[in-house]
Amino acid sequence: MDRTAMVKVGAAASASVCVVFGGVALAQYIVAKKKRAGKKTKIIEMMPQFEKPTVHMRDPERVEQIICGLIKGGASKLQVITDFDMTISKFAVNGKRCPTLHNVIDNCKLVTEECRQKLLQLKHKYYPIEIDPHLSMEEKYPFMVEWYFKSHSLLVEQRLEKHKLPEVVRESDLVLRDGYEQFFDRLHQHNVPVFIFSAGLGDVLEEVISQARVYHPNMKVVSNFMDFDDKGVLKGFKGELIHVYNKHEGALRNTDYFKQLRDYSNIILLGDSLGDLTMADGAPNVENMLKVGFLNDKVEEHLDKYMDSYDIVLVKDETLEVPNAILQKVL
Ligand code: TMP
Ligand code: MG
Repeated sequence: MDRTAMVKVGAAASASVCVVFGGVALAQYIVAKKKRAGKKTKIIEMMPQFEKPTVHMRDPERVEQIICGLIKGGASKLQVITDFDMTISKFAVNGKRCPTLHNVIDNCKLVTEECRQKLLQLKHKYYPIEIDPHLSMEEKYPFMVEWYFKSHSLLVEQRLEKHKLPEVVRESDLVLRDGYEQFFDRLHQHNVPVFIFSAGLGDVLEEVISQARVYHPNMKVVSNFMDFDDKGVLKGFKGELIHVYNKHEGALRNTDYFKQLRDYSNIILLGDSLGDLTMADGAPNVENMLKVGFLNDKVEEHLDKYMDSYDIVLVKDETLEVPNAILQKVL
């Protein structure tokens, strides 16, 4: 057989494989659709974003019910509570990890090479503990305190200057998830309170969202804020430490904020860690809460637990398409 004939045979064979697999996929899709049709999930089905393979739900009917509740309540009852690192910011671009708020500082030119190496060693020791599926949050807690204590002490030793932060952020590789403008702008237009609750660095966070032009008056940032001396040199951190697994304590310290919002009884919570599930613990009066979780890393080990804990799990999805589609229905 000559080369052209071989190519043709190959093409015909792969076309029929596609037809077979395509047929199987289509059949699975129809069965799934029929199953769902019997189970009253009309609103979800009206959103093509839910068809994406990144979307996982243990109980689509429950999600449907919650979204119905959110739609009924509309803008006047809605508040959003969200994590920042790897929830509003991207986890990876083209397979390359993106920086956290801390990493923006770790990687900047103001930090000495020796300090950068020490911070990197800390990350290599503690990040695997942060995401270890075999340890409970209680077991991880003391390790997180240790990581933050050591990391923040190293940053203080560097005598960082406040006025250099805008440049450091401009030069960083931190990227916000696709659709972030639409997300924050729509929430602003409808005056929906947004609580950004981050175990990152508050000053860096505020600078990032200011430079992205999405820091609106309906937003409140609760995070680890740097304390500068009167010359603008970093001397420590303000208030109680917020780490990945003590957000419930931070939430309870903010009960005044949540009390003021007691009529905003519908909540959309966005997070990427199981620790983020406690971010709404300070809210006194919850009617409907939709929990959306981004699962970015070690997907196989975590998917089951995430699906038990979050209503919608978005696996390796670097966009805010699903939250935006929901907001479009609610607002
Ligand atoms: P957040 O998602 O609550 O904003 O979490 C902050 C993230 O910051 C968390 O994943 C741990 C990470 N982190 C660093 O990247 N470097 C550090 O030095 C510390 C203390 C935390
Ligand atoms: Mg996070």
